[in-house]
Amino acid sequence: TQNIYILAIESSCDDTAASVMLNGKILSNVVAGQSIHEAYGGVVPELASRAHQQNIVPVVDQALSRANVDKSQLSAIAFTRGPGLMGSLLVGTSFAKSLAYGLHIPLIDVNHMQAHILAHFIDEEGFEKPPFPFLAMTISGGHTQIVQVNSYFDMDVIGETIDDAVGEAFDKSGKILGLGYPAGPEIDRRAKLGNPKAFKFTKPRVDGLNFSFSGLKTAILYFIQKEVKANPNFIEERLNDICASIQYTIIGILIDKLKLATKQTGITHIAIGGGVSANTGIREALKNGEAKFGWTTYVPKFEFTTDNAAMIAIVGYLKYLEGDFAAQNVMASSRLKI
Ligand code: KG4
Ligand code: ZN
Repeated sequence: TQNIYILAIESSCDDTAASVMLNGKILSNVVAGQSIHEAYGGVVPELASRAHQQNIVPVVDQALSRANVDKSQLSAIAFTRGPGLMGSLLVGTSFAKSLAYGLHIPLIDVNHMQAHILAHFIDEEGFEKPPFPFLAMTISGGHTQIVQVNSYFDMDVIGETIDDAVGEAFDKSGKILGLGYPAGPEIDRRAKLGNPKAFKFTKPRVDGLNFSFSGLKTAILYFIQKEVKANPNFIEERLNDICASIQYTIIGILIDKLKLATKQTGITHIAIGGGVSANTGIREALKNGEAKFGWTTYVPKFEFTTDNAAMIAIVGYLKYLEGDFAAQNVMASSRLKI
């Protein structure tokens, strides 16, 4: 049988990533993060595209050398076409096009949101692949979606955020509390030491399977301002309890929507992805859902949940098998839909 080598490139936000895959198995997975955004408390698009420009060649070279694969062996180049920041997408897209053009091999465009979901199909020991149909919940700093996945390329978004992403809810709450960026991991760590029921924040009321997180952020801001007025040391004295209460509220919102989604679709296989799926509380809540609601839950290997190119490679591989290639005039698309 033929060996299919895919080189995949991801540059949709602030991580420059490249990965080499052989027949569905990852040979290398390189990610260069951009610490420059920490000082700004969020991703600065202009700085992100400049950093991609600097990182892309070294990251691709490293992915090839770690995989011990030469450019001449590659079968196709896969790249993230969107959604994402236009200036960032353009770097990966242009690079992928040039390389495919120079090597006379096919080019494969990949939807970043599909990739977060199909990351579950990377061959990886100890990780089971979800059976079709399943529900995928993609939760990160840039996205919050519930998707019904009928097959690899037949997916319907059945719920999504109407404002902030869930990761932003963590990060913006953290900013109010004076924590560093991104604040999700620290809120998670402190939540374990605090009382989740110490403070109560009302959950947003959004119909159906859509999400809203901007109201929660405002509620937290007002609450903190009021408390600090009464006691200037409120944040430092109660930080763990505040973090635990915020996390408890956010997880409650996610689990409520999942419950509704399983009820509406009758599907009980649930796969999660995106940076927020690292959260200890959400993992615990999903596990509890197995006993409580009869769910079967799937969490991918950590390096495949945050933005990475291995997930782009698996989609590239699946599209390669179908002969689904992109033309050389394909364009990046910042609002690409599933
Ligand atoms: O997938 P990702 O690395 O990048 C994108 O946003 O696409 O996700 C980053 C987000 C940030 O908002 C970060 O605060 C959040 O994931 N995050 C967490 C945890 N680890 C990362 N949020 C809650 N708990 C965590 N343990
Ligand atoms: Zn992402």
